[in-house]
Amino acid sequence: MHSDSRRGFIQTVGLAGGLAWMASATPASAATAPKMIDHSPQTLPPLPYAPDALAPVISARTVDFHYNKHHAGYFTNLAKLVAGTPWASSSLEEVILAAAAAPDKRAVFNNAAQAWNHNLYWQSLSPTPSTPSPALASAITRDFGTQAALEADLTKAAVGQFGSGWAWLVLSDGKLKVAATSNAGNPMLEGDVPLLVIDVWEHAYYLDEQNRRADYVEGVVHKLLNWGNASRRYATATA
Ligand SMILES: [Fe+2]
Repeated sequence: MHSDSRRGFIQTVGLAGGLAWMASATPASAATAPKMIDHSPQTLPPLPYAPDALAPVISARTVDFHYNKHHAGYFTNLAKLVAGTPWASSSLEEVILAAAAAPDKRAVFNNAAQAWNHNLYWQSLSPTPSTPSPALASAITRDFGTQAALEADLTKAAVGQFGSGWAWLVLSDGKLKVAATSNAGNPMLEGDVPLLVIDVWEHAYYLDEQNRRADYVEGVVHKLLNWGNASRRYATATA
């Protein structure tokens, strides 16, 4: 599907789904929803490693503030915003798609999307070195040429993102692609499946690196990316 028509389709689905939930609390059916590989609860998931596990690239102090203040805060804010509405019992993904299509639900979208983006961010990092699965490695060769070329593209997107935002590896129409979004943006709004993400909001690195975002990104890309998790998501998305 052409990206413009696909975007229109998703916006239509999101709007219809949102109105349906407001009326009946019934989420959009799987048959009409865009392909989603997650159905996340509106609760803060546990950090998948100890707070000091990502040091020295990301200090325990940064992880503590980032996870316990910022990430947890988005869930706290979201819970207040959807309390007493049908969205309170929806998955995080359903709330994101529906709120994105409702101009008066910007705060709901921002907090839901930031909660989701951080869920994937922590999953996208690991203190244990990893490599892509054979299937993902093959797709990387097909779409980027080499793993190093992909890492260079991802680094460029992360360092070059103006202001707060995110750099992503996504599956888009069957192809791998690097993307960047600002603020709480998420490629699922374009119908793409996020495989991994790097947070480039200043709170992700400022305690450790101050304004040196490039140093943080280089460390993350070359020492912390969880290719095992990206491979599992790729397998699910292509199944
Ligand atoms: Fe963050």
